This record gives sequence, C-alpha cells and structure tokens, in this order.
Amino acid sequence: MLKLTDISWESFAALGLESKKPYLEHPDDPGMPYHTLFAQQFDRSALERLCALANRIRFINKSKEGALYLKNLLTHKRAMLYFSQPSSRTFLSHLAACQILGITTGSVRDAATSSEFKGESREDSIRTFSSYFDMIIMRSPEQGLAEKMAWELSNSERPIPILNAGSGKDQHPTQALLDIYTLIRSFETKGGIDGRTVTFCGDLMRGRTVRSLSYLLTNFNDIKQIFVAPKELQVPSDVIDILREKGVRYEISDDLRAATRISDAVYMTRIQDEWDNSKGESAKIDTHRFKFGAEELELLGKDAIIMHPLPRRDEIATCCDHDPRAMYWRQMRNGMWIRAALIATVFGFEKTIMECGY
Ligand code: NCD
Repeated sequence: MLKLTDISWESFAALGLESKKPYLEHPDDPGMPYHTLFAQQFDRSALERLCALANRIRFINKSKEGALYLKNLLTHKRAMLYFSQPSSRTFLSHLAACQILGITTGSVRDAATSSEFKGESREDSIRTFSSYFDMIIMRSPEQGLAEKMAWELSNSERPIPILNAGSGKDQHPTQALLDIYTLIRSFETKGGIDGRTVTFCGDLMRGRTVRSLSYLLTNFNDIKQIFVAPKELQVPSDVIDILREKGVRYEISDDLRAATRISDAVYMTRIQDEWDNSKGESAKIDTHRFKFGAEELELLGKDAIIMHPLPRRDEIATCCDHDPRAMYWRQMRNGMWIRAALIATVFGFEKTIMECGY
C-alpha cells in the first residue's frame, strides 16, 4: 500500500490525480478515501456504496429511536470545520451531518479570528486543530491546500483525515457526491442514471462543482455532457481532456434552449466573479442567454430535472422554484445525508449502520 509518509510533498504534488489516488486510500477499506480531496477518488462502486448508506441513514433517522441510535455512534469523535472562504450550505450540511452521527464539532470560519492572523502558517494551524479533533473538514480559496494539509497531517503524530469542502476553482468533491446522489435518486424509478444527457450551464471556467461532477459522471455508462457557456467562461481544457481520454460523449455549446430540449438534467451555475482579476470583468460578459426561466422550463422534458449547487443569483428564475422538476432544494438536503454517509465511512462505520436492526 502506498503511503503519504513514503513520499516527499514535492514528489506527491507533482503526480497526476490518478497517481495520487492510491496514497489517499483508506487503510482498512481501500475502495474508499481516507483523505477526501478530489472526485477522482470515487469509482462507481464507491459511489453506489455511499448512496446506499445515505439512504439507510436517511431512513434510520426518521424515527426517534433510530435518530438516537445514530447519535450514539460517533460520540467519541470530534470534527473541526475550518472554512476560510464563504459558505452556507456546505458548512451547515457538514455540521448537520456530524450532529446526526453524534460527532462534536468546532469551527473557524474566518482566518482573521484564528492565529493565522498573527502570522501562524496554515501548516501550524492544521497541526493545532489536529491536536483537539479527529477530522478536519476544510474549505479554502487556495487550490491544492487541502492536499498539502493532508500530506502534512499524514506526516505528523496525529494523522487524522482531511475532507475537502471546496478548494479554490479546482475541486469540490462532496458537492459532486451530493449531485450524483440527487441524480441517482431522481432517476431511480425511471430507468437509472446510465445513458443520460447532463447539461452544465453558466461559469464553467471557474466553477469547481462542475469539474468535480463532470468527472464523477464518467463513472457511469454512456452519459453525454453538454457545456453551455459564453466563450469566455467555457469549460477548461483539463475537464475536456479527461472526457476525451475516457471516450465520453460531450458537446460545447452556447445554446441553452437547444441543450434543454435534449437533457435529462440541466445543472445551472452562477458567475463566479469573486475570481475576477480586475474589478468587474465578468460584468462585461453577455450572460443573458445563459439563464433558465419560464421559456426553458417549457422546453424541459417531463422527467428531466433542474439542478444548481447554490447560491443562485438570477440564473434560475424564481418562477421555476415550485416546479416538481426543480431539484435544487432537495439537492441541499441530499448533501446532509451523503456527507453523513461519507464521514461514517471514513470513521469505519458503514457496515455497522448498514447491518443495524433499524
Ligand atoms: C458552490 C461552491 O462553493 O463552489 N457552492 C456550494 O458549495 N454549494 C458553488 C458556488 O459558490 O457558486
């Protein structure tokens, strides 16, 4: 088994994602991650296991007895939520997931309130958190920081797991897990997820949820991906390279209506203008054709769904909100269940929960 203790940070950082994957595997469960850093760590069997566990947790939690059973499972564990970038849903759903499993939590939501403000390095901050907690769930504007922290911890005397809750413009693996869970549940009784057409629309250049979900979809059979965006915000070449390599069908487009007609899922995203280099450059891009409203809703198939990682601005009109195909509200709640499933799995409790009497 490859271990992060056997490789220098420089050599590890230089590897491709597929080569990094074995270093991050769970020692007791090699099909699952120990440190969860990017979507490439999940194959179809891991995704199906997590979705089955999320369904199980969702079911058990319905009764008071079941909820109490879950709440007693991980009372001996503590998790640190270290979010140095804005977050509502990702923070709260991880927090709620920990609460479901009885995990005690602590949090830093602003580096200005931690010793980083006094000049402490992130490496030292992480080592500090690891002294008090058993898992670190982290979000950072910096690409690759979660990886660096995973390497640091694995090479420390407290090698606790890291869970990446969003790293720069790069990856957001747990969002992709909840998106897949939502797709699987939506098509469960309608022939399944294989063979579907998924359209991504909006800021595909800088949206990390798109990169992670596009990869996870490659685990399923014959899924076509359509990328609809203004040319300045089209999907980056590394995403396309993976699709080409894996022989996945894709299309680059600027026609949301045409894509909507043939899609099983339309995944809308907001313009990520926090990444603008000079003030207001996104505002100069014409985005009016990349919004989903009443007319697009008319074109959408009756079994198709609309998704959004949220927060939204005006890229989905509020008139769509009560349509049964609007899946973004349920997506949020799915995030809590799948994150509970992932955290329980990392702590080695999948089997216990799957086999319990509830
Ligand atoms: C996304 C993110 O942070 O990348 N939000 C989320 O986690 N639900 C999408 C976004 O901010 O646009």
